[in-house]
Amino acid sequence: MCGIVGYLGTRNAVDVIMSGLHRLEYRGYDSAGIAVVANGDGQPNRLDWVKSLGKLAELDRKLDGANLAGALGIGHTRWATHGTPSEANSHPHFDTSGRIAVVHNGIIENFQELREMLETQGFLFRSQTDTETLAHLIRMYYDGEAAGDLAEAVRGALRLVQGAYAIGVVCADHPDLLIAARQGSPLVVGIGEDETFIASDVPALLRFTRDVVYLENGQICCISRDGRTFETLDGQTAEPAVRHIDWDDAAAEKEGFPHFMLKEIHQQPDVLRNVLQGRLAPDTGDVVLADLALAPDQLKACQNIVIVACGTAWHAGLVGKYLLERFAKIPVEVEVSSEYRYREPLARPNTLVIAVSQSGETADTLEAIRIAKQQGAQVMGVVNVVGSSIDRESDGVLYTHAGPEIGVASTKAYTSQLAAFALFTIYLARLRNVLSADEGREMVAHLRMLPDKIQQCLDQAGIIEQCSRNFKYIVAHSALYLGRTFNYPSALEGALKLKEISYIHAEGYAAGEMKHGPIALVTDMVPAICIAVKGDVYEKMISNIQEIRARQGVVLAIATEGDIKVAQYSDHVIYVPECFEPFSPIVVAIPIQLFAYYIATNRGCDVDQPRNLAKSVTVE
Ligand code: F6R
Repeated sequence: MCGIVGYLGTRNAVDVIMSGLHRLEYRGYDSAGIAVVANGDGQPNRLDWVKSLGKLAELDRKLDGANLAGALGIGHTRWATHGTPSEANSHPHFDTSGRIAVVHNGIIENFQELREMLETQGFLFRSQTDTETLAHLIRMYYDGEAAGDLAEAVRGALRLVQGAYAIGVVCADHPDLLIAARQGSPLVVGIGEDETFIASDVPALLRFTRDVVYLENGQICCISRDGRTFETLDGQTAEPAVRHIDWDDAAAEKEGFPHFMLKEIHQQPDVLRNVLQGRLAPDTGDVVLADLALAPDQLKACQNIVIVACGTAWHAGLVGKYLLERFAKIPVEVEVSSEYRYREPLARPNTLVIAVSQSGETADTLEAIRIAKQQGAQVMGVVNVVGSSIDRESDGVLYTHAGPEIGVASTKAYTSQLAAFALFTIYLARLRNVLSADEGREMVAHLRMLPDKIQQCLDQAGIIEQCSRNFKYIVAHSALYLGRTFNYPSALEGALKLKEISYIHAEGYAAGEMKHGPIALVTDMVPAICIAVKGDVYEKMISNIQEIRARQGVVLAIATEGDIKVAQYSDHVIYVPECFEPFSPIVVAIPIQLFAYYIATNRGCDVDQPRNLAKSVTVE
């Protein structure tokens, strides 16, 4: 949801900012812009800027020959919230004099009334954005109460603002000062030698530094040539912890793959190894969650679990429910965070709320855990990004160790979340004495086999690509994804993957629901992708497949290796290795992701940056 980069140091800020923005393009890509404080050569310094509509490549083109240079600057890649994507609405936004520039990620909720107040005072607006309000407010304070003190002017402006923001501010009068502030939307400060960076997310900084400070809500950071000061908006000094990031720079590159999405799909065997590493005790059938920071007694005392998440992470939560209820024998509800936060839920002190989030910044999920905490619930995060808001605001966190996920469609984060739920299920079940050591050993053994099974699925990428070509013409309008029990969420996830990257309408259903309405959709132009792996509900799925075929439906089955029966009833079959059914969603995820990927690329879609989407949904 918009990417921000800022720089003060010894290099040309334009190079640093553009490099960082390219790493953040997954956060938004409808327009972009950059501003630097340029040396006035005897005249007062000025702000030079370039903006463009469209992706960053467009801004690159415009910058060619624009001669922008300076050691201080800010840049932005946008996902529109207020005002259509256009050059005028793209950031940075300026005050009327053009000497103060602001980049912003978030939403200023009271911008309309602030704008009216500013317009009556004669401030001229050039865009429809909420952000421009900030630039004028800062100017109002700068010329007034703050008397030329930029940091004080920013503080004054932010005191009037309601909503969420991460901002970077520069002013032509202060060539050695970069101001950053945060409330709600993420912002990291990167620390280098004689240089400082700000960015919405760590990948933007990895090329330059791996030492970062995560700005807290309500904090402002003033960056000068002498260093950095961190304060709260009301002037209290803050002592932030500097964290060292262990992802390397290659993690933010495609490394030979045509898309981040394909790279991330292929990383999944290693990701699974990372999630499981050091957490399995095969001899005792236990799971060791040393970093969880929730006392075993507290967990034991929990009487119910509520899982909150959005999108793909919500699908992971649904699988989590099936696992936890079956093996840990504890009641579980799963809720879309945006519903949970507004429906006055009843969390109790003995409720464990699990927030699942790759980015750890999803606004609705963050708010859901705040509500749960107010009601006295314990909160556990299942989070990929260490240091993110959900990480910091949870009582305990199970990290998914998937590394940076840059493709907008979630792939490796999903399977790592599923593995995290498998781990937590065994852990809790053993803690509650409802899973014997033998059963634990068996489940641990099944978990250990998963990375190799995923690899076997990846080895069939060529077959899946071939299959997607067969389907290309048929799936052009609509598709159904069907599954039962553990693979009902797989059906939802399959449909989401297909629709978000190929723009083909797709619905995921619990296969048993077919006869209650959706079967009316079946024609030979609406293929059904049926997840029919061996397990308790296998025969039921075979019956559903036959019902579809009886109505001239086209069936692509995802089935267990060696299953000849399913092939008799299906038009195409993609095989996956035999697998313990409760963990099969982890294996089934691979053909589902690859199938969607190949269909989308065959249709010429930009799978890493699908239309209208952005990764890390930091606005509600
Ligand atoms: C879909 C996808 C989204 C995210 C959702 C939650 O492929 O990526 O549905 O899963 O926006 O994001 P996080 O996990 O960052 O909270």
